[in-house]
Amino acid sequence: MSILEVTGLKKYYGAGAGVTRALDGVTLSIEQGEFAAIVGTSGSGKSTLLHMMGGLDVPTSGSVVVRGKELGKMKEEQLTIFRRRNIGFVFQNYNLVPVLNVYENIVLPVELDGDQPDRTYMEEIVQMLALEDKLQNMPNNLSGGQQQRVAIARALISKPAIILADEPTGNLDSRTSSDVLGLLKTTSRKFHQTLVMITHNNEIAQLADRIIRIEDGKIAE
Ligand SMILES: Nc1ncnc2c1ncn2[C@@H]1O[C@H](COP(=O)(O)OP(=O)(O)O)[C@@H](O)[C@H]1O
Ligand SMILES: [Mg+2]
Repeated sequence: MSILEVTGLKKYYGAGAGVTRALDGVTLSIEQGEFAAIVGTSGSGKSTLLHMMGGLDVPTSGSVVVRGKELGKMKEEQLTIFRRRNIGFVFQNYNLVPVLNVYENIVLPVELDGDQPDRTYMEEIVQMLALEDKLQNMPNNLSGGQQQRVAIARALISKPAIILADEPTGNLDSRTSSDVLGLLKTTSRKFHQTLVMITHNNEIAQLADRIIRIEDGKIAE
């Protein structure tokens, strides 16, 4: 069984003449340990697909099965816990909590789960992402690349099986982008994680094991 299975996924916004078919019947499987890039023009449905894959939004029809569990069949609270334990998200805008320092941001998902971070693993991640001397900083005192590295650390801390990244380097310069991407690729390999990344950058997509093209809410052949 694939780690992530999307079947006949549709997401429509609005109704009647004003309907937007953001996703119009997407079927795909992602294998354990795979690095898949999702590419497509702006408005083609990439973010909508990633949100559905991570259970952040509810489809109009179709199903998403992650590690054998159908997300649409879970109650809200169950889904929140499942997501926190199995899926790490990295967004273009980092989504760090401004009133928490770097350390607190990173360990947040583990603490929300009523757990303690694994110290050795925490140190390993922090070192790999070169954040050792930034742990007491507040997010707004960091550069974009540093903030994104914090977001990656936060996505990794609960050792999720899957990392879903939506244009994670969209706000970074090209040098910082390749650093951050290199780190994402290295960490996901090292921890045997599955990585699904949206990008509009062809060079970045070339780093992936597979490129999935989306056009008008459908998989393009
Ligand atoms: N919350 C929303 N309400 C209405 N329309 C939306 C919403 N989110 C996305 N859309 C529309 O769905 C389509 C796909 O959007 P999106 O998945 O964000 O595309 P992409 O990430 O590829 O740029 C676009 O036409 C967009 O305007
Ligand atoms: Mg998008």
